[in-house]
Amino acid sequence: MRMGRRPVSDKAKLELSWLDIGGGKSNNPSMARLVLDNVSKFFAGPRRENVGAVRRLNLTAGAGEFLVIVGPSGCGKTTTLRLIAGLETPDEGSLSLDGEPLAGVAPKDRDVAMVFQNHALLPHLTVFENLGFGLMLRRTPREEITRRVRAAAEMLDLTALLERKPPALSGGECQRVALGRALARQPRVFLFDEPLSNLDAPLRLQLRGQIAAVRRRAGATMVYVTHDQAEAMALADRVAVMREGALQQAAPPLELYRRPANRFVAGFIGSPPMNFFQGVVARENGLLVFRANAGFALEAGEGAAKALETRAGQPVILGLRPEDIGAGPGVAAVVERVEATGAENLLYCESNGVRFVSRMPAGRVAEGGQSVALRFEMERAHFFDPTTGQALTLPGWFI
Ligand SMILES: Nc1ncnc2c1ncn2[C@@H]1O[C@H](COP(=O)(O)OP(=O)(O)O)[C@@H](O)[C@H]1O
Ligand SMILES: [Mg+2]
Repeated sequence: MRMGRRPVSDKAKLELSWLDIGGGKSNNPSMARLVLDNVSKFFAGPRRENVGAVRRLNLTAGAGEFLVIVGPSGCGKTTTLRLIAGLETPDEGSLSLDGEPLAGVAPKDRDVAMVFQNHALLPHLTVFENLGFGLMLRRTPREEITRRVRAAAEMLDLTALLERKPPALSGGECQRVALGRALARQPRVFLFDEPLSNLDAPLRLQLRGQIAAVRRRAGATMVYVTHDQAEAMALADRVAVMREGALQQAAPPLELYRRPANRFVAGFIGSPPMNFFQGVVARENGLLVFRANAGFALEAGEGAAKALETRAGQPVILGLRPEDIGAGPGVAAVVERVEATGAENLLYCESNGVRFVSRMPAGRVAEGGQSVALRFEMERAHFFDPTTGQALTLPGWFI
């Protein structure tokens, strides 16, 4: 895909120049602690109703941290970045950078650089000029511009392309230039708004690696937005999951995977997603049992049993990741379909009208239509309140 000729809207250009003029108060990259305190932003919806694009958001990016905000389209990610950049004003709450309140500070004075989803390069300028654009606007001395542009180009493999103009670049190269322009600025905070989502899969992987490398070298505070949970997990020090404007959970990637705070996070992080089963907690022969609506009954794991004590007779949702459903006695199911990736097999199963996925090592063979017995690793089970979606237990193996 070539994106060089994509027109840049006037609004984007204006916002870009606001951001590009500002910042870079010192020649050394510095890091800053960014705090969002109870921040809300409302817009007028299509029927003039109030839409809470961001709702009471409490979020901190530590100095030098790579924070990734992830969530489905429309959950408020871009609005959050625009609030940080100063392109939107919060209706509630406040933001601060290294303890200094950002209220009333113009975008150009915030010392943040934003990389947009549609890279917004200036098509009539060369790569060199695009990289140095923000520094030029700020009347940085020529030698300093050259030094910083060359360093950014070096880091992003752009040295051979410095004399070209954007229409003669591929999509991935354009996005690298956009990245490099932010890098040359040496801001206190980098903001990335889905910088890879217009690229095809191999390029996305390659640029992901480059962003990780830039991150290590630049050492600045970074807030990175994506709707792709795999990208979030791969890049982040900490992942913040948003839904409908509200923060669901912020935690390091593996903690998010192992200890999702609610059903939404459990279902959003991980691919294929966690399996969910409706059922009730029952006490049978002195044991706590999960009795699924699908007919099977399984003893609750040791860790979960304690937390489920008070729920006997009540409905709960059992959550199990595909890798925690394997071959072995337990639940009778029919394999509807097998997806073999080479490294593993995904078995799409059905049991009394309930569908779920099991992830098995590649060597194991099963075919569509086959009846199988599957072992549910109940020590790794998650349980959720069906009304609130809140997690009721921590998987026993994690405690
Ligand atoms: N300028 C605007 N005017 C009206 N509604 C907006 C505006 N910007 C965003 N929204 C709404 O706010 C919500 C969050 O949008 P956005 O932050 O762009 O989400 P995301 O980046 O996660 O896809 C959406 O419902 C969107 O339609
Ligand atoms: Mg967006």
